[in-house]
Amino acid sequence: MSDRKGILTTDAGDLELPVIEPTTGNAGLDIRKLRGTLGYVTFDPGFANTANTRSALTFVNGAAGELRHRGYRIEDLAGNCTFLEVAYLLLFGDLPTAEQLDEWTTEIKTHTLLSEEMKRFFDAFPRSAHPMAILSSATNAISTFYEEYYNPSDPDAVGESAKRLIAKMPTIAAWAYKKSIGQPYVYPRNDLTYVENFLHMMFALPVEDLKIDPVVAKALNVLLILHADHGQNCSTATVRAVGSSQANLFASVAAGMNALWGPLHGGANQAVIEMLQNILDDPDADVASVVARAKDPDDPFRLMGFGHRVYKNYDPRAKVLRRFAHDVLERTSGKDPMLEIAQQLEDVALNDPYFQERKLFPNVDFYSGIIFRALGFPPRMFTVLFAIGRLPGWIANWKEMTEDPDTRIMRPRQVYVGPVEREFVPLDQR
Ligand code: SDX
Repeated sequence: MSDRKGILTTDAGDLELPVIEPTTGNAGLDIRKLRGTLGYVTFDPGFANTANTRSALTFVNGAAGELRHRGYRIEDLAGNCTFLEVAYLLLFGDLPTAEQLDEWTTEIKTHTLLSEEMKRFFDAFPRSAHPMAILSSATNAISTFYEEYYNPSDPDAVGESAKRLIAKMPTIAAWAYKKSIGQPYVYPRNDLTYVENFLHMMFALPVEDLKIDPVVAKALNVLLILHADHGQNCSTATVRAVGSSQANLFASVAAGMNALWGPLHGGANQAVIEMLQNILDDPDADVASVVARAKDPDDPFRLMGFGHRVYKNYDPRAKVLRRFAHDVLERTSGKDPMLEIAQQLEDVALNDPYFQERKLFPNVDFYSGIIFRALGFPPRMFTVLFAIGRLPGWIANWKEMTEDPDTRIMRPRQVYVGPVEREFVPLDQR
């Protein structure tokens, strides 16, 4: 606490609100005594102005368009680290030494296999199953093999759960993809790096070896890092909410995956590609008409990949991805009409008063899909890739929540506006 304070003046009396001091960004007015003292609750749909926790993981400066993990700039991490290095930073608080990274990487590599029974689990799905439905179901399914690690207050059990989730998520994702195209499951290989192994399981065939393009592997490494964590976003808040009831880490992460799937959140990367494809396919749809629809208050259509609850400037991740898209396309599929359309959309929107007044800029999802596609992933796998990237962030937030003495089960209040009381009417009198 600090000696700064807020004073809340109401018709029910005044209340002094202590201030929770940050190291940077918004300070918090502590309203924990509000309801008991003045009988009021606060009203803040979507918790747009409400902090549920202190956190030392990630800071997002929305006005400046800056993102830092444990104090390190996202640009530095994306340009110099492996994804497992950033996962280590989020989970343990510091960048690993070479020895720590080697040990951590080896630990992850030795848990990439799924129990053989899981093959029947994948077989049970229709080929048309959305891979996000499989991902969250499989996350709960694999937890049945590790019940000894459920206890959230046992740090060793949490550590074992975290390792297995990070190690096995690429295998689950790749096997969901293989199932959808009727190809055999490809087993993980311990001689490959984390991203090489994922590409191997995704695109190798038993009939020939897959030559992994280092540019593709490097691009995927950067993409996963850019998605690693992002403060109290919808899916992370969901992981914390489920974990606050002392549900195990697997169940909490599976819930976060389902929140991520929504098109307003992680599902936006797939929706961006569908929006761009529609412009290419539909002779009546062009950049101007799409922007006009996005501005029309009577049209529920939104410019997917644009806008953000926190960023009121260019999302720094989108900046990295916009530059990266050119490099990757040059080395892979060559020119992509979708990238040209995306840039036209961006140019028109950024110069349009509607978007300028609302400070709507491209977010991480605007360019990520174009790169995922150039790397060979189908659009329905894009949110799965987001989930693999966000997994260390979810786990780090869940750990931080379970170790925080201020943590209470998440149970928001409401302002009730329904009928106050009514006499019961028996069925034969209604
Ligand atoms: C992610 O939170 C995170 O950190 C998320 C994320 C992460 O790393 O975890 O960054 C990942 O989810 C990125 C966002 C991906 N979603 C999309 O790209 C979907 C399109 N964008 C939106 O639907 C919207 O911008 C949100 C959901 C991202 C943010 O919604 P908010 O903060 O609730 O803002 P809002 O809906 O209140 O919009 C404010 C105004 C409204 O207009 P008015 O009512 O004032 O007239 O801006 C308009 C909105 O209609 N608006 C848009 C728009 N986004 C907001 N209008 C057109 N197109 C858009 N994309």
